[in-house]
Amino acid sequence: MRRKRTAILISGRGSNMDALIAAARTPDFPAEIVLVASNRPDAPGLARAKAAGFAVAAVDHKIYAGREEFERSLHMVLETHRVELVCLAGFMRLFTPWFIGQWRGRLLNIHPALLPAYRGLHTHERALADGVKIHGCTVHFVVPEMDEGPIVAQAAVPVLDDDTPESLGARVLAQEHVIYPAALRLAASDALRIEGNRVLGARMDSDSALVAPAII
Ligand code: GAR
Repeated sequence: MRRKRTAILISGRGSNMDALIAAARTPDFPAEIVLVASNRPDAPGLARAKAAGFAVAAVDHKIYAGREEFERSLHMVLETHRVELVCLAGFMRLFTPWFIGQWRGRLLNIHPALLPAYRGLHTHERALADGVKIHGCTVHFVVPEMDEGPIVAQAAVPVLDDDTPESLGARVLAQEHVIYPAALRLAASDALRIEGNRVLGARMDSDSALVAPAII
């Protein structure tokens, strides 16, 4: 089986990047990581990827006149590396419809909430303020609307009485590291069919935790 050439785009820490890289090291994984790119040249994850021997690229959004100039440059880097699939992993820039059009159906994102709840930033603070009992994370295909798009995988975690945004965020992050590799595996093995806003064929193994066991 030919493995899908996959890029990971980050803006910071890169813990989801680490989880994807670790998964892609397993022999039967259908995606190989051929590039790690960041819009922030000083992203800690970029240095780690470079030290681990991955091809890396810093495409600093600040040096471009506008969003689309930045994206055209990023797109060229992706094309140069013959990338087929892109995983946004803590990539904190919004894309224009032009970029999303280039990558539609091949662009995944992870969001730290159970979409469509809590789009945007500060999801853990907002979940605590609302008093919800269940929170979680979502991997979805990217569409022009922010934090929308067909959902590939979700995991739920309980919200505990003594949670802070940090403790809740850490519980969610542990699940992000489970569902993102699982979602990439599905997307890269062409197991998925997108019908409207639904992703079909995304049945996961029981050990890959569509819903975190902690909730039961
Ligand atoms: C993750 O929690 C990810 O879900 C979130 O940023 C964090 C990045 O952490 N992404 C977003 O909020 C996107 N809107 P990481 O760099 O350690 O993977």
